[in-house]
Amino acid sequence: MTAAPHRFHGAPAAGSGVYSIRFPKLYRPTWAEIDLRALRANLERIQDRVGRDARILFVVKADGYGHGAVEVARAAVAAKHAAWLGVSSVEEGAVLREAGLRVPILILGSLYPFESTLAAIRYGLTPTVASLDGAKRLVRAAGHLAPRERRRLPLCCHLKIDTGMGRIGVRWPAGREVVEYLLGVRGVRLQGIYTHLARADEDALFTRRQLAAFAEAVAGAERLGGRIPIRHAANSAGALRFPESRWDLVRPGLAAYGLFEDFTPVLSLKTRVVFLKQVRAGTWIGYGRHHRMARAGRVATLPIGYGDGLPRQLSAGSPVPGASVLIRGRRCPILGAVTMDMTMVDVSGVPRPEVGDEAVLIGRSGKLEITAGEVARRSGTIPYQIATGLSARVPRVYLR
Ligand SMILES: Cc1ncc(COP(=O)(O)O)c(C=O)c1O
Repeated sequence: MTAAPHRFHGAPAAGSGVYSIRFPKLYRPTWAEIDLRALRANLERIQDRVGRDARILFVVKADGYGHGAVEVARAAVAAKHAAWLGVSSVEEGAVLREAGLRVPILILGSLYPFESTLAAIRYGLTPTVASLDGAKRLVRAAGHLAPRERRRLPLCCHLKIDTGMGRIGVRWPAGREVVEYLLGVRGVRLQGIYTHLARADEDALFTRRQLAAFAEAVAGAERLGGRIPIRHAANSAGALRFPESRWDLVRPGLAAYGLFEDFTPVLSLKTRVVFLKQVRAGTWIGYGRHHRMARAGRVATLPIGYGDGLPRQLSAGSPVPGASVLIRGRRCPILGAVTMDMTMVDVSGVPRPEVGDEAVLIGRSGKLEITAGEVARRSGTIPYQIATGLSARVPRVYLR
């Protein structure tokens, strides 16, 4: 076999606007393309839709939903489309700080173990307080700062109210005691209060009930201590569909990455044909002998598999059959089982297929498109899992 030719072989030319962070050369022609222009356009659209009174906290947890947290955060912040960033842990926040990002970063998860509180403070990350115990730990950590670290005081925190998500947070009115406690201490400041919506994309009634419960909690907390500067509730679906959820800050993830409604997808997943063969009718394809060619045809092998995050549920014969990839603008059905590193597809319908042809697993080819949503549906999951499930061995190539 000759090596597959491909566009990113060799370091991209300076100023080409195409670059890969971890692999200056791609020897295996499998990559995810991240279109930073689409990301910026999506964030701009979100800002237009929610109005200028609410700023954007761009959610970049789970390595920026698999897109590469540092790169997407840099692009959003440099374009002034994100006033805040949201992560799920101290580690995720630390990576952004070490990459030089200076905007406020909210840790959306509860700090545990509580020893991580001090690390969060030292990285200048804003913790979520989700219980009285968590509030006390934060106050204690503030008291243990070395003299030269005292410039960080008062530490800002955001109080999480559980209005029906049932994950982390205090219920209201039980949360009163946390607010009263925080108002009575020095060294910690209640900068924000927030909640998270459980079904904003599919249940307006329940979402309105959550938002009403949050409004009641905000009013109660503000009666105790005056206006709380940053009040927030909205994920993508909330921000776009429920104006009353917007408050001072909205927290989109999905829409920013183009994985919601008609926003432009930021990520494409691509590979190239590395092996081609003509097979006879009756030929078995792949592990388990799950697929037998009904007729003679051409079969291409692609260097991508479940080890890259391509769901094995796309295998032929799975509960939602019909998964395919795009080659030269044609749909090519997946044959047999998706394996760890390789996947076979039927290219009998492609005119003059060649080794080196680009194959699109998520994205566009000619007039056709396969969305992450389609891959998710066929795999019995949600687009979040498809994007975050792309493994580290898939190089992310950035289009500026
Ligand atoms: C607390 C919180 N806010 C906002 C988001 C962003 O949600 P979405 O990606 O649906 O916009 C998430 C993601 O799960 C989250 O956990």
